[in-house]
Amino acid sequence: MPIVPPYVETLMPYVPGKPIEEVEREYGISNVAKLASNENALGPSPRALAAVREAAAGAHLYPDGSAYHLRNALAGKLGVKPEEVFVANGSNEIIDLLVETFVLPGEEVLTSARTFIAYKLAAQKLGRTFVEAPMKDGYWYDLDAIRQKLSPRTKLVFLANPDNPTGTWFLEKELVRFLDAVPPGVLVALDEAYVEYVDAAGYQDSMALRRRYPNLVVIRTFSKIYGLAGFRLGYAIARPEIGGYVERVRMPFNTSLVAQAAGVAALGDAEHVQRGRALVQAERPFLSEGLAALGATVVPSQGNFVLADFPGRPGKELFEALLRLGVVVRPVGGYGFPTAQRITVGTHAENEKCLAALRKALGK
Ligand SMILES: Cc1ncc(COP(=O)(O)O)c(C=O)c1O
Repeated sequence: MPIVPPYVETLMPYVPGKPIEEVEREYGISNVAKLASNENALGPSPRALAAVREAAAGAHLYPDGSAYHLRNALAGKLGVKPEEVFVANGSNEIIDLLVETFVLPGEEVLTSARTFIAYKLAAQKLGRTFVEAPMKDGYWYDLDAIRQKLSPRTKLVFLANPDNPTGTWFLEKELVRFLDAVPPGVLVALDEAYVEYVDAAGYQDSMALRRRYPNLVVIRTFSKIYGLAGFRLGYAIARPEIGGYVERVRMPFNTSLVAQAAGVAALGDAEHVQRGRALVQAERPFLSEGLAALGATVVPSQGNFVLADFPGRPGKELFEALLRLGVVVRPVGGYGFPTAQRITVGTHAENEKCLAALRKALGK
């Protein structure tokens, strides 16, 4: 007789990117390039670090549970009201909170197959029904297929744009067609973790769409372009009633004092964001072309990472060969891509190191 509910018994824990220190310890190497978790290769904003040092002096005090300054700063930047913003311990917590707060037993969480695994985990760990629609052409969200999976039990839809792990994106006109078909009682959570990297024509203006679709919840993070993954800070923009319900469910102090300070300062550091964007715009083509030259199928990406498929090369084996050469990437067999690696765009030196390691590992 298991001591946990069956949906916990069968849950597969999330597998994070391997930390640098762990790889160095296990393989007796140094100078490891971590290209496994889509972090900002340039590090945190220096302004955020300065703010953290200052805030740390008050670490004996609980943080402001309402994150007043951070929510105000976000609202100012986004042109929304502070009560339309809520923050959490990474956008991953927002994903969990949306399921916890809104999805009743018997109701369904719907998304695309092969997308960010946190949506599935959030539903499964509460025993909620999880429904997914196939991708099109192997790597692309198919909003029409997702629409066809809407049922009277659907309560929450997750859409990642750009998607992780593929890096692909869909257009605003496709999203509008989808939103028009969704009943108003169904929440649509649009996960824009990589929005700051996007330059594709026809990409959504989610802040404008929110005004037309009150059931739209936009999720964003400080973990990617802001370079603050280690502080755990994410936020959502939604109508106040939605945030109000989430506030009842979340832990009272779900974002730390230092994370809040870092977030406010990072929002004011436009230069750091610009540098992060410029690096990815310059290096993503370099990395992608290098990967293609090594025989990979490289999926078009609007994120700070690319998905590279090496036909005939089991993902785990290639991943381990690269680890021994001091490069950590992310095999994505668990997502349904058994021969692919998701590779974060690093600094030029890291990308060169990655390509050199691949050349060696592939025997080219
Ligand atoms: C699409 C997407 N959403 C959410 C997250 C979670 O990020 P965090 O919890 O660090 O904000 C990630 C992280 O990789 C992601 O790729």
